Amino acid sequence: MVNNLSDYTFEKVDFLHYFRTLLKDRGHKAFYQFLNRAHRRSFSRKKIQQFAPQGVGLEIGCGSRTISPTNRTVLSDAFSSHGVQGSIAKVFFKGDKIPYESETFQFVLSEHVLEHIANPIKALKEWIRVLKKGGVIICFLPHKERTNDRFRQTTPLSHLIEDYEKDVPYNDDTHLEEWFQNVVQKDLMPEHYKHLDKQQLLDSASIHHHVWTEIEIAQLFEHLGLKILLVDPRVYDRRDSFLVIAQK
Ligand SMILES: C[S@@+](CC[C@H](N)C(=O)[O-])C[C@H]1O[C@@H](n2cnc3c(N)ncnc32)[C@H](O)[C@@H]1O
Ligand SMILES: [Zn+2]
Repeated sequence: MVNNLSDYTFEKVDFLHYFRTLLKDRGHKAFYQFLNRAHRRSFSRKKIQQFAPQGVGLEIGCGSRTISPTNRTVLSDAFSSHGVQGSIAKVFFKGDKIPYESETFQFVLSEHVLEHIANPIKALKEWIRVLKKGGVIICFLPHKERTNDRFRQTTPLSHLIEDYEKDVPYNDDTHLEEWFQNVVQKDLMPEHYKHLDKQQLLDSASIHHHVWTEIEIAQLFEHLGLKILLVDPRVYDRRDSFLVIAQK
C-alpha cells in the first residue's frame, strides 16, 4: 500500500506540537523542564532550517520527541513505543520499506535511529528513493566515544555491505552477544530497556547494531552516491551526537 501525502495532517504551527505532546504524555513537570531554553534544541533546528529551508520532509523513528519542523514533516516510526516511551508518530512503518512514492520528500531526517536498524544500507537506499533530486538526508547519530557504545569497535563499511548482501532481517542477532559483553556487562544498559529480555530487545529494535563516528557515516553516504554537505562531529544541544547532512 502506498500512502498519499495529501491525506497527512500537518501541524498548523511548528513547535507547539512538541510542547503539547510533552504535556499530554509526560505531565506538567516534564513540560516545565523542557520549556527551559537549553532543551529546545535551537542549534539542531537551525541546522535543519539551513539545509532544508522549504518543502515537505519525512522523519524516520521520531520516538517520543522531534526537532523536525512539524508543520511540514511527516512524523513516522516503526514502533508505537520504544523502551518505556510512547511514540508521537502519525504513521507507522519500518524505515527500510517506506509506503510513499519515489521522489516525494525534500528531506529525510532521523535522529538516533540508523544504529537501531540491522540493515542500514537497505534502509538508506529507501530514504534515497523517496527523496527528490537535490533533497537532503539529515542524520543525527550517537557518537561512539560519547555513548554507552564506547567499549565497542567502530563498524567498518565492509560489514554493512555484507549485511546488505545477506539481507539481514530487522531483528538480526549478529551483534547481540557482543552488545551484551560491551554494554550490559559493563553496566551501561539504558534504564528504559532493563525490563526487556534478549529476544524482546531484538524484536523491538532496541540494541545499537552498529557503532560509528561522523567519519564512517560520511564514507557510507559517499558509497551510496550522496554528496556530503556537512560533517559535524558535535551537536551542541545533544552532546552525545554527531551530524551528517548529504544531498541526493
Ligand atoms: C533511541 S530512539 C530515538 C527516538 C528519537 N528520534 C530521539 O532522538 O529521541 C530509536 C527510535 O528508532 C525507531 N526505530 C527502530 N527501528 C526502526 C526501523 N527499522 N525503522 C524506523 N524506526 C525504527 C524506534 O521506534 C525509536 O523510536
Ligand atoms: Zn551488522
